Amino acid sequence: MPNSWSWVQFSDIHLGSPRSFRFQPKFNEQFDFAVEQIANSDQEPDFIIVSGDMCRDGDTHLFELEAAYDRLQQLPWPVYCLPGNHDIGGRFHEKNHARVNLDAIGRYRQVFGDDYYTFEHKGVRFICLDSMIFGTGFDAEKEQWQWIDEQAKDAHIPTMVFMHTLPFTNSPGSMPCTFEENFSAWYGNIPEEDQLRLAAFLKSINLLAISTGHIHVFQDRVVDGIRHVQCPSTAFLGNPEYLKEVNSVLGFLHWDMDDAHANVSLRQLEKESALEGYGPGGNIPVPERDYSAAWER
Ligand SMILES: [Fe+2]
Ligand SMILES: [Fe+2]
Repeated sequence: MPNSWSWVQFSDIHLGSPRSFRFQPKFNEQFDFAVEQIANSDQEPDFIIVSGDMCRDGDTHLFELEAAYDRLQQLPWPVYCLPGNHDIGGRFHEKNHARVNLDAIGRYRQVFGDDYYTFEHKGVRFICLDSMIFGTGFDAEKEQWQWIDEQAKDAHIPTMVFMHTLPFTNSPGSMPCTFEENFSAWYGNIPEEDQLRLAAFLKSINLLAISTGHIHVFQDRVVDGIRHVQCPSTAFLGNPEYLKEVNSVLGFLHWDMDDAHANVSLRQLEKESALEGYGPGGNIPVPERDYSAAWER
């Protein structure tokens, strides 16, 4: 296909430094393996997008953000990132001790730059959103909504939208997801009212797809006329107790644009790291059910 071009989407790479309290050298090595896999393929991407959770403990430590950023800058391709809960904190709720906060957003912006932005490449518009600030009531949330509304004026341009958490589970606004009563749904999604508002925006533009991470699975589906793709993690699998009817594998996504169509294919990780160890220096055994560390915070 002479006129096609491509990009790669990573998500939830969860890079850490040996100073991190949940450092797992395995995750860093698996990211290296994924990069090798791209370099050895005959499909050179124009750029890389990472849809959040670049870090393990970036919401806590500036040096974690810096370590992940430095690793990503070493790649031979341009890289675009957006924040996940492990980068700026999880969904806002007073009982969530690891909730998104202004200090963490400030640290993220200091290292990675804007947490929401747009760019164009070969006639396609890419919109990267900060899904963690939905429901916070911060000025930044209002500013982002105002900015999203402004993007609607260029409705005709073929557009890809990326963010970290789910835009909806079953269909926009259809599933109650409160912190107390349905924690998994609460953890995975943006607030119901934002699901509806975002869906209205997505339907108003020439949307190719919205693609997200956070759940650590692969899925490509159309809901309510909206194409929603989920990008898997290179680090660890999603919680199998929560996940049904999705493809839970380690890997990343290869996207190619052919005329005005965005094709996606799953690239499963060809090898897993055998590195062991956890915690500062990677010196303690990996706790059982390690994925819970992400799902229970
Ligand atoms: Fe993650
Ligand atoms: Fe996440």
